[in-house]
Amino acid sequence: MIILAIETSCDETAAAVVKTQKSVIKPLSSVVSSQIPLHRKTRGVVPEVAARAHIRKINAVVKKALTDARIGLKSIDYLAVTNGPGLITSLLIGTEYVKALSLAINKKIIPTNHMSGHLYSAFLQNPQLKLPSINLIVSGGHTYIVLLASKNKIKIIGQTIDDAAGEAFDKVARMLELPYPGGPEISKAALHGKRDYDFPRPMQYTKDYNFSFAGLKTAVLYKIRDEKLKMSDPQVVADLAFSFQNAAVDVLVAKTIRAAKQYKAKSITLSGGVAANKKLRKDLGDAAKKEKLKLYVPDFKLCTDNALMIANAAAIKLQGGFKPVNYTKVKVNPGLEI
Ligand code: KG4
Ligand code: ZN
Repeated sequence: MIILAIETSCDETAAAVVKTQKSVIKPLSSVVSSQIPLHRKTRGVVPEVAARAHIRKINAVVKKALTDARIGLKSIDYLAVTNGPGLITSLLIGTEYVKALSLAINKKIIPTNHMSGHLYSAFLQNPQLKLPSINLIVSGGHTYIVLLASKNKIKIIGQTIDDAAGEAFDKVARMLELPYPGGPEISKAALHGKRDYDFPRPMQYTKDYNFSFAGLKTAVLYKIRDEKLKMSDPQVVADLAFSFQNAAVDVLVAKTIRAAKQYKAKSITLSGGVAANKKLRKDLGDAAKKEKLKLYVPDFKLCTDNALMIANAAAIKLQGGFKPVNYTKVKVNPGLEI
């Protein structure tokens, strides 16, 4: 079975092809056209600008995914597309494109949840990882702890009550006058940090598995204001980035490990854009090891948005018994939960 997947939920235009044989999912191609340089000017994504860029790029990206996979449109069995969550104008470009393609080649569609794409990306290189697993999904828009009792049984056990983890990294980066996207810039700057301001670890000891990052973000803001810190000094920026990252990572690690113990998880996964953060990967890996658990993290290029994770999640959905739908049944839902 061959699946062509398209992802346009935010600011990456992406297409990928996978081949499935029984339970094996084999990547054939993955193409990502990033809009990061475009959004640097505005230090964030302007939805209308992102949508227009998707329109300009989508055809070439799909063609390259097919060429790289050495297949033509005739070989495709199913189409998959991200239908939410995301920016509505961005999602519409991908879904309308896939609907038109579905009509043209007479193939059905697997509408796929973007966050399930992130979640299952950890399984792509480790399909046999042991369940139940506790899964931390940290992106620019969402922060979830999810329990997977079996492959297709997703249960949210915790989430952010305000900002997403990635959003907090991005907003603090703005305060530090670092370029967009802020997450990678914070982790780069943090490497040179010497002083730890000991920012609060919000909700670290609450009994639930929820997170809050708004207070941490405000603590950084007040520190800058109260101590009249100047971003023209690279050491100040490095110290603030270092201290913020330490606090955010501590909370993410503590809650994930507690959930893993509580639910007697056999493995832990980490996914989403913030999973590219080296400190989070290391600290969560070390903490998991102490509990005699293994942490599974996708390759760096699979952490941030891509269509291979969507093709993979669509294939898992299909293996779970999902019946692909006619193009008239595909609806965009920007607020879709996992
Ligand atoms: O999953 P993703 O590519 O897009 C969404 O679905 O939101 O995640 C993007 C987020 C951004 O907030 C970005 O700053 C963050 O992931 N990010 C990082 C790192 N690389 C990307 N955050 C912390 N450290 C990083 N190295
Ligand atoms: Zn994402």
